[in-house]
Amino acid sequence: MRLVVTGGAGYVGSVCAAHLVDLGHDVVVIDDLSTGHRDAVPDGCRFVEGDLAEVAGPTLAEGADGVLHFAARSLVGESVQHPERYWHGNVVTTLRLLEAMREHRTPRLVFSSTAATYGEPTRVPISEDAPTAPTNPYGASKLAIDHAISSYAAAHGLAAVSLRYFNVAGAHGGFGERHTVETHLIPIVLQVATGEREAVQIYGEDWPTPDGTCIRDYIHVDDLADAHLLALTHATPGTHRVYNLGSGTGFSVREVIDTCRAVTGHPLPARSAPRRAGDPAVLVASSQRARDELGWRPSRTDIARIVADAWEFAQRRTALEVH
Ligand code: UFG
Repeated sequence: MRLVVTGGAGYVGSVCAAHLVDLGHDVVVIDDLSTGHRDAVPDGCRFVEGDLAEVAGPTLAEGADGVLHFAARSLVGESVQHPERYWHGNVVTTLRLLEAMREHRTPRLVFSSTAATYGEPTRVPISEDAPTAPTNPYGASKLAIDHAISSYAAAHGLAAVSLRYFNVAGAHGGFGERHTVETHLIPIVLQVATGEREAVQIYGEDWPTPDGTCIRDYIHVDDLADAHLLALTHATPGTHRVYNLGSGTGFSVREVIDTCRAVTGHPLPARSAPRRAGDPAVLVASSQRARDELGWRPSRTDIARIVADAWEFAQRRTALEVH
């Protein structure tokens, strides 16, 4: 297939683009490099640098079988401080993309939605029919897009899938997490191991969980990429399906840090810090629907494997940045 990957210079987008190229698809990456990296665009992709709202039309005019839409702003804290960046950068830009897809009759869309659309869970594990009550503009912007996609599918025949990611981690060889502003637990802990940070802060040790630290559901980025490929082939015209993607197992912040210690052999000093605003105590996905309908089987669910792949990438990244 000829596929357009927006945000293909970012973490998840670059990994998925690499999988698509390996499978022989013809891939065009669109990215404005605001947070992505030019050297993360996999070999074999055509690269269009620019504002998605501007370049989507001309790119789709050349013909495409589908769009995988990863490009987005994704910092929860920033979204609270600067909501305009999320309403404009995520919602308005995606509306322009949807219009370009309609104009050029692009038949399929796979969209990167998020667990943040649910907000504080009322029941764990979280299934797709859970209430959606996002607690920050980031989650709200992704939920608004999900609604827009549903109406485009119903009215214009788009075949659409939204994938609601839980905590994506790990790496795919040379493709991994390289955020300028890093907020995610595993890369932060590994920055202590590479000497870029002195210690990791544990945001709260008084949560209602067995060891007092927050529990999250970590999914390997390669398992996530597999789900995108399945979503592309299962997308049905006129239908918008939503799937949660996690491994279904929760690990506490302490367990993650202990795993990082075991994998890196570094003592990884950790300090107690206040709770981070907006963090729910436990977020674990039910991915039963993705298993039943897409036939998705995550195979890299071992947290030590996820951390080991992230660690290999972190070492490569520091070597690259030093030279
Ligand atoms: N944490 C720390 N110290 C750190 C960083 C994180 O203790 O230095 C804790 C957090 O408080 C949280 C856990 O580690 O309990 C995981 O935090 P991350 O920032 O790695 O991930 P989140 O669960 O906050 O974020 C994920 C996705 C977001 C999404 C959000 C929905 O990465 O994109 O879930 O709640 F918006």
